[in-house]
Amino acid sequence: MIILAIETSCDDTCIALVKAKGQKPPCFKILSNIVSSQTEIHKKYGGVYPTLARREHQKNLPLVLEKALNKAKMPKINLIAVTVGPGLDPCLWTGINFAKDLAKKWGLPIVPVNHIESHILANFVGSNSKSQITNSKNIFPAICLVVSGGHTQLMLMQGFSKYKILGETRDDAAGECFDKVARILGLGYPGGPAIAREAHKLQTTNYKLQTNLPRPMINQKNYDFSFSGLKTAVLYKYKNKKYIKEMCKEVQQAIIDVLIKKTIKAAKDYKTKTIILGGGVSANDELRKQFAYKLKTINYKLNFLVPSKNLCTDNAVMTGIAGYFGKPKDCQKIKADANLRIC
Ligand code: KG4
Ligand code: ZN
Repeated sequence: MIILAIETSCDDTCIALVKAKGQKPPCFKILSNIVSSQTEIHKKYGGVYPTLARREHQKNLPLVLEKALNKAKMPKINLIAVTVGPGLDPCLWTGINFAKDLAKKWGLPIVPVNHIESHILANFVGSNSKSQITNSKNIFPAICLVVSGGHTQLMLMQGFSKYKILGETRDDAAGECFDKVARILGLGYPGGPAIAREAHKLQTTNYKLQTNLPRPMINQKNYDFSFSGLKTAVLYKYKNKKYIKEMCKEVQQAIIDVLIKKTIKAAKDYKTKTIILGGGVSANDELRKQFAYKLKTINYKLNFLVPSKNLCTDNAVMTGIAGYFGKPKDCQKIKADANLRIC
């Protein structure tokens, strides 16, 4: 089966063609994966400006489609998958309307996709474009941590399409915190990669720390998060521009500490076999490294899945995979839902 997938939930215009085969386990092959980034356009606003993003999506979609089809050598498409939420309402609608027009023109079914679920399912394509699923019996139950610019959620995953939300952020998402802190520090947008780069410049581990930031909610028994206080703490403490690298290292570490502690706690509490990461923030090298290291030091065996870096941030390959697990819906009934929940 060949799936044409469309993802426009935020500021990237993404179209992919994915070949899916079999059921248990399914096997996915990426035929093309085109991401047209609007980063440069939104840079001056320090974040995504929705109506501008919609206009760019409208402009980009036909061009991105042509590139994706050409790269995949014009295969015969069987299904269209499109992100319907959560995300920015005007952006979601642009992708949905584009998908509906194509479905009508080509007489194809459409599957609506949840963006959070697609970030989780990005784990099931390996970096060599082959399926990473060997035996789903060894994976589930799993704890999924989705950390992106718009979301920070911990979920229990009992199997494909079986989710329960355990906790989420009460205010800013982890990626939003990176973006807002980067803006305070004058590092530009997107903030996550910029902060990671600055933090990395401070190689020595025993530098004299000029800044101590809080680890919000780290010791609370629930699975919720709160990151808005971190941004406020940076605002108060950022007086001396000399210490910008230290501030970056400390804010990155504060976010990592909270994410790792709460995720491992959830995995232990629910006796899961696996921890699955997804979303833009999971592209962070330190987070990936420290998670893997921590999991080696605890006396509890957990598999650790994290997508290849290009599939952590928004892309349509993951939308295609989620489309494969989803169900087609009547075209008329497909609508954007900016606050769509996974369950
Ligand atoms: O998943 P994503 O592409 O879009 C949303 O669904 O929100 O995530 C974007 C977010 C941004 O906040 C960006 O700063 C963050 O992911 N991000 C990172 C890194 N790369 C992207 N955060 C930390 N370290 C990174 N390397
Ligand atoms: Zn995303």
